[in-house]
Amino acid sequence: MENIDWGALGFNYVKTDYNARYTFTDGKWSEMEITGDEYIKMHMSASCLHYGLELFEGLKAFRGVDGKIRLFRVEDNARRLQSSAERLCLPVPTIEMFVKACTEVVRLNEKFIPPYGTGASLYLRPVLFGTTAGLGVKPAKDALLIVYASPVGAYFKGGIKPIMVALDREQDRAAPRGTGDVKVGGNYAASILSGENAHKLGYSNVLYLDAAEHKYIEECGAANFFGIKNNTYVTPKSPSILPSITNMSLRQIAEDLGLKVEQRPVPLEELGTFEECGACGTAAVISPIGKIFDMQTNKVYEYGSEVGKVSMQMYTRLQDIQYGRHEDKHGWITIVE
Ligand SMILES: Cc1ncc(COP(=O)(O)O)c(C=O)c1O
Repeated sequence: MENIDWGALGFNYVKTDYNARYTFTDGKWSEMEITGDEYIKMHMSASCLHYGLELFEGLKAFRGVDGKIRLFRVEDNARRLQSSAERLCLPVPTIEMFVKACTEVVRLNEKFIPPYGTGASLYLRPVLFGTTAGLGVKPAKDALLIVYASPVGAYFKGGIKPIMVALDREQDRAAPRGTGDVKVGGNYAASILSGENAHKLGYSNVLYLDAAEHKYIEECGAANFFGIKNNTYVTPKSPSILPSITNMSLRQIAEDLGLKVEQRPVPLEELGTFEECGACGTAAVISPIGKIFDMQTNKVYEYGSEVGKVSMQMYTRLQDIQYGRHEDKHGWITIVE
């Protein structure tokens, strides 16, 4: 696309040519429909608007070093979307429907896939919501699944660098046995206020503690948390954490690089013992954490202004796989032709 400045792209919606849709009515899914329409016509009493019967996914397609288009772990996103749909009693799309829509949207919008070397990529946003009109709180009988795409810029312009994070005890993102382990809009609505409070103080992300006891580390903004110490990759385990596909990949990569991997409750006090720590997710792969500030106690944890060695190694390996510079030995890549 001659009129897109790939280097200037942020994480914003950019219109592409096509999106894919499936409609659920009368107990069954429609065939996939491809449209250029960015809008939907929906009843004002639709269940997604009133009771938050909405969920989504996020994944990326990359233009590789060999010019091929690589979609990262699309089937894992499909499975996570299925578990979100089950939790909200929404109709559950099949893996095939999801993969077909993602590959088709990438293929049809090929001219929006940023060139290799720009650090930019094509972000895919599948979204599923209940459309049944009504007033009572009950499962939706009708739903719409849309997969659209938007080119997004390199997360760190001018190279990966550590972020500053604020620890919040005023608001919780998700509760045990709530919906923290699925990707539903309500979790993000619950996180907006603490995010804004942290931003006002100059912090880019919020570190959340477990809602039951406020003793254990949960997530870091819209990303999972990990720490490195004694040649070990440590990441929290909790029923209210979203199972991050990036974290899953980093646990494998940590093993491949000869690290031990521990997925277990991580008490707050352990923050002081990590040699490196970071947030991980599709948007940035790894955001190394340079400083954590406890907004209530004013305690500060510092990890330095340089990216840690292990974080850098893991970041490089994952990007190398995504851009086709390293063998995809775990079968994470779908080539879109
Ligand atoms: C709350 C939350 N945690 C973690 C992640 C990271 O997940 P993934 O690596 O699948 O992008 C995301 C982003 O999708 C998120 O929204």
